[in-house]
Amino acid sequence: MRTTVGWRADAPATPLRRSPLERRDLRPDDLAVRVDYCGVCHSDLHAVAAHPGGTLVPGHEFTGVVTEAGPEVTGFAPGDPVAVGNIVDSCGECPMCRAGQENYCHAFPTLTYGGTDRHDGSTTLGGYSREYVVRDRFAYHLPAGLDPAGAAPLLCAGVTVWEPLRALGVGPGARVAVAGLGGLGHLAVKLAVALGAETTVISRSAGKADDARRLGAHDLLVSTDAARMAEARDRFDVVVDTIAADHDLGPYLRLVAMDGTLSQVGHLGPVTVRTTDLLIGRKRLGSAGSGGRPATAALLAFCAEHGITADIELLPSGQVNEAFDRLRRNDVRYRFVLDLSDLS
Ligand SMILES: NC(=O)c1ccc[n+]([C@@H]2O[C@H](COP(=O)([O-])OP(=O)(O)OC[C@H]3O[C@@H](n4cnc5c(N)ncnc54)[C@H](OP(=O)(O)O)[C@@H]3O)[C@@H](O)[C@H]2O)c1
Ligand SMILES: [Zn+2]
Ligand SMILES: [Zn+2]
Repeated sequence: MRTTVGWRADAPATPLRRSPLERRDLRPDDLAVRVDYCGVCHSDLHAVAAHPGGTLVPGHEFTGVVTEAGPEVTGFAPGDPVAVGNIVDSCGECPMCRAGQENYCHAFPTLTYGGTDRHDGSTTLGGYSREYVVRDRFAYHLPAGLDPAGAAPLLCAGVTVWEPLRALGVGPGARVAVAGLGGLGHLAVKLAVALGAETTVISRSAGKADDARRLGAHDLLVSTDAARMAEARDRFDVVVDTIAADHDLGPYLRLVAMDGTLSQVGHLGPVTVRTTDLLIGRKRLGSAGSGGRPATAALLAFCAEHGITADIELLPSGQVNEAFDRLRRNDVRYRFVLDLSDLS
């Protein structure tokens, strides 16, 4: 085993603490990556809150540099800048994997943290750590020109909204709304705008209106403003709902145009839907999560071409608990990224 250092939770709702961690020795197709920057996803908060005990090391959107490559690795060499997202392996054989949708692998993809390694059965430990060992297929070359700290959130937040935007055909002329202006939401706005869509933010208050405009959005709707919400009825071809908590989908479905889609990517869990909110206008409710390898590579290329990275607040990893507290209070514009160099 190799030893590194990271931030771990030992029980629900306790602060993360700095701790030595073990990584596996490299398999023939593995890379060792020095993790430089790791984004703080709201899923990390959910995971720590629901943590049953044992070692949990969050972090599933990171960038860094290859330090070693196994003997069968051909696509990477030490010194290469790379990015890793929230899945690190899959069966490679099922129809989903064959279609390049490893994120929906029938045998379940190996999650970057809290997953079960397919070979040794160990629990994966995430990117809040100075080193990560990853199968080469699930590392991506980080395009030159993308700031590695700002690019880290593309690997979870970015690809999670990119796949539905692409799958739903968002392009020039499409009318898109993004509900919840946080980590996922602000990247959804940037991507939708760059794809040519007329883009609106739906937020709980008008406080983010200037930011919405700066991100390229054409409008901001305040979700509690009943008059404007009513006015916006049937207006959007696609509504991407990134809200981090359980909520009534009705008001958002009513904004969807005929034959349009509400893609619910934020709250993962049971929801109640009045079918009449779908029936009236033949609307669709969908969801998506993470990204397959081809879509992740395509997203990185698109972001390099359009100069898109996340708006981040970079913190030394020693401030991870402060980042958690502030993210819980919605006090971030729009993604915390941890600088792991303080773990060396
Ligand atoms: N599908 C997937 O694979 C996937 C991947 C990553 C994350 N997620 C999930 O996506 C959600 C968003 O993640 P994130 O990292 O973007 O979180 P985030 O940065 O905290 O942003 C979430 C946004 O939702 C809105 N919001 C939060 N609580 C709300 C409430 N109680 N009612 C209404 N709106 C609320 C806020 O926007 P306003 O201030 O504008 O109202 C907030 O900025 C999380 O639940 C996360 O677990 C899913
Ligand atoms: Zn995430
Ligand atoms: Zn598979």
